[in-house]
Amino acid sequence: MALILGIESSCDETSVAIVENGESVLSEKTASQINIHALYGGVVPEIASRYHLEKISILVKMVFEETKIDPKKISAIAVTYGPGLVGPLLVGLSYAKALSFALKVPLIGVNHMIGHLNAVFLFDKNIDFPCAVLMISGAHTEIVYMKSMDDFEILGKSIDDAAGEAFDKVARMLDLPYPGGPQIDKISKDGKPIYKFTKPKTVGKYDFSFSGLKTHIRYFLKDNPGVKVEDVAASFQETVSSILIEKIVKAAKAYNVRDVVIAGGVAANSAVRRKTEEAGRKNDLVFHFPPLRYCTDNASMIAAAGWHDYKAGKFADFNLNAVPNLEV
Ligand code: KG4
Ligand code: ZN
Repeated sequence: MALILGIESSCDETSVAIVENGESVLSEKTASQINIHALYGGVVPEIASRYHLEKISILVKMVFEETKIDPKKISAIAVTYGPGLVGPLLVGLSYAKALSFALKVPLIGVNHMIGHLNAVFLFDKNIDFPCAVLMISGAHTEIVYMKSMDDFEILGKSIDDAAGEAFDKVARMLDLPYPGGPQIDKISKDGKPIYKFTKPKTVGKYDFSFSGLKTHIRYFLKDNPGVKVEDVAASFQETVSSILIEKIVKAAKAYNVRDVVIAGGVAANSAVRRKTEEAGRKNDLVFHFPPLRYCTDNASMIAAAGWHDYKAGKFADFNLNAVPNLEV
C-alpha cells in the first residue's frame, strides 16, 4: 500500500491531499484565494505567495487529522514544481522539502499538467492506451498522443493564448468577474450563440490560436454597444468549444484511438462537455473527463501523478527547484 501526500500551490489554490495507491482520495483540503484575487481582476502573484504560506501548514495538519494517519507512515510527498507562478510554487516546494527531510520520506516533483491529466485517471479506470488527450487549462492548450502513462507525443498546442486564458480575457471585456471561464459558462445559459466569430484558418494541423477570436470580439463589442452580453458569451463559448472538439476529433481519428481524455480547468465547460456527446456518437470515440470538482487545481491529482513516479522509483532530491515554464 502506498500513501502519497500531495501538495499543490502553483496558482491561486493551496491544496493538500492524501491519496492511496493512486486511486482513493482519503482526504483533500483546499483553500481557494479566488475571492481575494477577484478584487484585482486576476491573480496577484505576491498576494498568492503570502496566502499559500499562511494556509499550507494548517491544511497539512487537517489531512493528517482527518485520516488519523501517522505522518511518518506516508510513503512519499508529491509536490507541484511547475508550471506556475514562481513565488507560489516555491512555497509548496519548500514546505514539501522541509517535511520530506523532517519525516525522512522521499520527495517527488510533479508537473502540474501531468497532475491535471491524472485527475481523469484517478477516477476513471476504463481508459485504454493509446489515447488522445486534450489539455485545456488557464495557461496551456495541447493535444497529446499518449502511448502509456509516461510515453507522450505532443501533436499540437496553442501558438498564442491558452483556451482558459481566452475565456478569462473575453470575460474581462464583458465586465464579468475573475475567473472568467465559469462566468461565461454560467451566463451563456441565458444567451443564444447567434454571432459567428472568427475560427483561425492558418494554424498547424493540431495547433490552436485564440488571439484572433479575442480581437474579433473586442472590435465587435466596440461596433455594437448595447449588445446582449449573454449572447456574446454564448457565441464565444460555442466558437471555442467547436474549435477544441473539431481538432481533438481530427487527432483521435488520424491516430486511430478510441479513448479521448479531456483535462484541465476548461474541461469543466458545459459546451465542451455537450459537444463530446455528439462527437463521440458520430466518430465512435469514448470521451473521458475529470469529475467537475477535480477539473481545476487540487492536490489529489498531484498525489495521483506522484504515485506513478513512486512505483517507478523516480524521486527528487533537495536541489529540485521551481520551474515556472515547465513543459509536459
Ligand atoms: O486548469 P486550470 O487550473 O489552469 C491552469 O492550470 O493553468 O484552470 C483554470 C482555468 C481558468 O482559465 C478558468 O477560467 C477556466 O480554467 N475554467 C473554465 C471553466 N471553469 C474553469 N473555462 C470555461 N468554462 C468553465 N466552466
Ligand atoms: Zn491547473
